[in-house]
Amino acid sequence: MSLDAKAWIFFCGLAAVDVTISTAAAACPEHLQFLESRCEQWQSHVLPQSIPAARGNAFADNEAAAALGMKVFYDNRFSQSASGVACANCHDPEHAFAERKATSHTIREVSRNAPDLINAAWYTSSHFWDGKVDNLWSAPLFTLEQEDEMGSSRLSAVRTLASIYRIRYEKIFGSMPDLSDTKRFPLSGKPGTPQFDAMSEQDKDLVNQVYVNLGKALEAYMRKLAAGRSPFDDFMNGSAKSLGIDAQRGMVAFTRHGCDSCHSGPTFTDEGFHDLGYPGKSGRPQDPARAGGMAFASKWQFSSTSKFADPPGRESTAKAATVTGKPEGFRTPSLRNVVLTFPYGHDGAFDTLDQAIDAHARILPGNAAPDAQDKHDIIEFLRSLSGRSPQAPWNYWPGG
Ligand code: HEC
Ligand code: HEC
Repeated sequence: MSLDAKAWIFFCGLAAVDVTISTAAAACPEHLQFLESRCEQWQSHVLPQSIPAARGNAFADNEAAAALGMKVFYDNRFSQSASGVACANCHDPEHAFAERKATSHTIREVSRNAPDLINAAWYTSSHFWDGKVDNLWSAPLFTLEQEDEMGSSRLSAVRTLASIYRIRYEKIFGSMPDLSDTKRFPLSGKPGTPQFDAMSEQDKDLVNQVYVNLGKALEAYMRKLAAGRSPFDDFMNGSAKSLGIDAQRGMVAFTRHGCDSCHSGPTFTDEGFHDLGYPGKSGRPQDPARAGGMAFASKWQFSSTSKFADPPGRESTAKAATVTGKPEGFRTPSLRNVVLTFPYGHDGAFDTLDQAIDAHARILPGNAAPDAQDKHDIIEFLRSLSGRSPQAPWNYWPGG
C-alpha cells in the first residue's frame, strides 16, 4: 500500500470519528451523554413553555374569571348547607393543592385520594382517577353535587353565586337569569331530584348555563395554579449543575425499569389507564375504576362535545372525548411535583414514594420492583420534578 493510500485511510478514519462525535454532540449535549442512545428520547420529557389549550372553555385564560374562580375555591358556602366544605378543604394550598389524608373525609368518607391541582391543567384528555370527565371545567361540577363531597346541588350553587358574586359574574359572563320566582327556580335541586326534574327544559338550561360558567371560572383559576418548569427541565435545557449525580443515575434507572412506558411525555403520564394489580384497602367495596369512568363519561352532560362546551375547544377534543379502551385500572398519574403530593395511589394507600414504587412490582419487567439503590436514585430524580409555584396573586391564599 502506498503512503498516500495509508494517509487517505487514516484521514477517512479520522473524518468518520469526527462525524460521529459531532452528530452525537449536536443531538446530545455533553452533560447528557450518560443517557447514551436515550438522550434524544429524554427531550420528550421537557415541560413546554405553556400549558395546553383548555378544552371547550372560552374563559379559560380570562383574568377576571380566574379571580372569581379563586373566590369560589375558598368559599365554604358552596357546599351543603352548614357543612362548611370548600374546595380548599380537600385540595390544600399548603400541600400542593392535594390532601394529606389518604382519602377525603368531609361530609362522608370517599374512597379515593384527592389529587393535587398543580398538575390538573397539564392533563390533555381526562380528569379524575377514572377519567370520567374530559375537560377541567366540568370536574368541579361533578364534585359540588356529590353527596359525600360537597353535597350541594346546581340550583343551590347557582343561587349562592347569584347572591354573593353576581356583579363579578355579570362582568365576565353577562347577565344572570332572574331566579326570584321560586316556583320556577326552586331553592335547591339537581337532576334526579323532583324539584329540578319538574322544571321546564328551558329553565333547566338557564340554570345549567350559570352552573357551567361557575366551572369555567374555577378552571381559569386552576390554570393559574399549574406548576412551571423544574430543576429537571433546567438540566435538560443546559444547566448541568441542576441535577445531582444520584438523580442522573435515577434517570437511567427510570428508563431501564420501563417506567417511561406509562410515565411518558412532559408530564410523565401517558394519560392511559392501567391496573397495577395491587389489592385495594381491605373492607372496602371494589372500586369500579376505569369501567365506572367510561360508563359515566358516555352520559356526562357537560362533556367537551356537549352544547355547553365553547367552540374553540371542541375540535381539539376528539381524542379527549373518546371513551373507548380497556375498561380497567386507573389513570397514570403525572409524576411532576410528586414528592409534594403524598400519600400516593388512587386510594392513598401508600405513604411514601418507596411504597408506591414497590406496588408496581407485578407489572414491571421481571415482576420485580427496582432494588434499593435504583429506588433511591429514582426518588432523587423524582425530587427534581417539582416545578415553580404559581405567581402572585395566585400564590396568596386566605389564612395561608
Ligand atoms: C371532600 C373533598 C373534596 C372537595 C371538597 C373537593 N374535591 Fe376535588 N377531588 C377530591 C377527590 C377525592 C378527587 C379524586 C376523585 C376521583 O378521582 O374519583 C378530586 C378530584 C378533583 C379534580 C380532578 C383532578 C385531575 O386532574 O384528575 C379536580 C379538577 C378537582 N377535584 C377540583 C375541585 C374543585 C374546584 C373543588 C371545589 C368546587 C373540589 N375539587 C372540591 C376531593 C375533593
Ligand atoms: C403499566 C404502566 C405503569 C408503569 C410501567 C409504571 N407506572 Fe407508576 N403508576 C401507574 C399507574 C396506573 C399508577 C396509579 C395506580 C393506582 O393508583 O392504582 C401509578 C402510580 C405511580 C406513583 C404514585 C403517584 C401518585 O401521585 O399517586 C409513582 C410514584 C409511580 N407510579 C412511579 C413509577 C415508577 C418509578 C415506575 C418504574 C419503576 C413506574 N411508576 C412504572 C402506571 C405505571
